[in-house]
Amino acid sequence: MNIHTYEKVWLVAAMLLIVTFIATITYGSVGLGIAMVGDQEPTVEPTELGDDERFGDPRVEQVGENEYEAYVVAQTFSYQPDPIEVPENSRVTFYVTARDVIHSFSIVGTNVNTMAIPGEVAEMTVEFDEAGEYGIVCNEYCGPDHHNMEGELHVVPTEEFDLTDLSVDAPDEVDPDGDAEFTVEIENRQLEDLETTVVLEVGDETLEEEIVVPGGETTETTIVVDAADLGEGDHDWTVTVDDYEETGTLSVIDPDAENSDGGDDDE
Ligand code: CUA
Repeated sequence: MNIHTYEKVWLVAAMLLIVTFIATITYGSVGLGIAMVGDQEPTVEPTELGDDERFGDPRVEQVGENEYEAYVVAQTFSYQPDPIEVPENSRVTFYVTARDVIHSFSIVGTNVNTMAIPGEVAEMTVEFDEAGEYGIVCNEYCGPDHHNMEGELHVVPTEEFDLTDLSVDAPDEVDPDGDAEFTVEIENRQLEDLETTVVLEVGDETLEEEIVVPGGETTETTIVVDAADLGEGDHDWTVTVDDYEETGTLSVIDPDAENSDGGDDDE
């Protein structure tokens, strides 16, 4: 059988096209590493995220020298934590879930873009070489304020980065002959120990305490202030740990004096 040369050329061209199409589709679905949300990660109970080991406290944690894990919760109409802070030259694995309805987690200007589905956990690893600020937006319509749903990702210079959290528990009022207990809790989510000083300034008093918070742990310390040293009245206080600060006011009040004030009118 004789096949015309043009016929042959078109036959080969058509075959090549078919092979190219199949190769493109295969590459797009396998070669790019695109996975469905929830493929690799165990599921979560969206109504009980508060008790979840990973998402109960949305946060960034250090897991290796330059490796971090970020646990992010999307909800109407915000992200937790916000801003998300990671250091430059880091490799960050994001775990993202949603509390209520389907959202997305899309870091503007990067190719990070995933759906955040209640019950499922999306995982993706990103390398950040340089410091910079990125916006995070939601690409899935999630309700009336969808267009305002946004967050921030701060990639900060190494020397400005830490994963410290400070919280202070202090009374509002204390008797003049009593003690005011300041309970200072410091969380260190980095791997290295944190050696620092807790400084409490209250009234004219300054109290300092050296503290070491082991990597990945939370340490609590209590600083006791004798109310008699402060004197009656309102005293502003500040607790400082590195760049973190908590403030409040402590009132030294004599409960008996208050009563007798009220009783003065009768006498
Ligand atoms: Cu969340 Cu749109």
